[in-house]
Amino acid sequence: MTPHPHAASARDAKKAAAEAVGVDEEYIGLLVENFYARIRYDAMLGPVFNSRIKAWPEHLERMKQFWRSVLHNSGSFSGNPMLKHVAIPQIGAVEFDHWLALFEQTLAETAPSDAARQLIAGRARMIADSLLSGIHIHRDGLLPSRMKGVQHA
Ligand code: HEM
Repeated sequence: MTPHPHAASARDAKKAAAEAVGVDEEYIGLLVENFYARIRYDAMLGPVFNSRIKAWPEHLERMKQFWRSVLHNSGSFSGNPMLKHVAIPQIGAVEFDHWLALFEQTLAETAPSDAARQLIAGRARMIADSLLSGIHIHRDGLLPSRMKGVQHA
């Protein structure tokens, strides 16, 4: 019936696997609400968000769509996270580590299961790594790891 049966079943399988460990749409909403309630009052990162986000309800809705895309392959998010983060001059490795610590703290307090916590934390770390690599490439033209490789070549 569908022109891309394999893509459709892969998407359904991903969503089913996430839901099997308690990661349903309701939990994704709760996670996003809790995480941003925490980070917007954080001493280091709160000011970065508050100076750029004019409408929190819209941002939260966007982040729910993002996480539904990541965890359920819902296709509900379209944006350009790389471009948005490269444009924030205050952020680097220290800020990303702190972001992840706050995110993992939120997961530890709210996740419906250990498997859920691991699934979501893993995805967050991968995306954070890729955003940070993009920021380094944008600022320095090269990844620090590749520069090391060049020095030792
Ligand atoms: C130090 C860490 C971070 C800071 C300070 C930060 C801050 C921000 C800010 C201020 C925006 C709004 C940008 C705008 O609309 O102009 C934004 C958007 C966004 N952030 Fe982050 N962020 C961080 C890390 C992350 C990480 C690790 C993820 C994913 C795991 C993430 C996912 C997103 C997404 C999906 C958007 C929406 C992008 C779009 O509209 O295209 N952020 N972030």
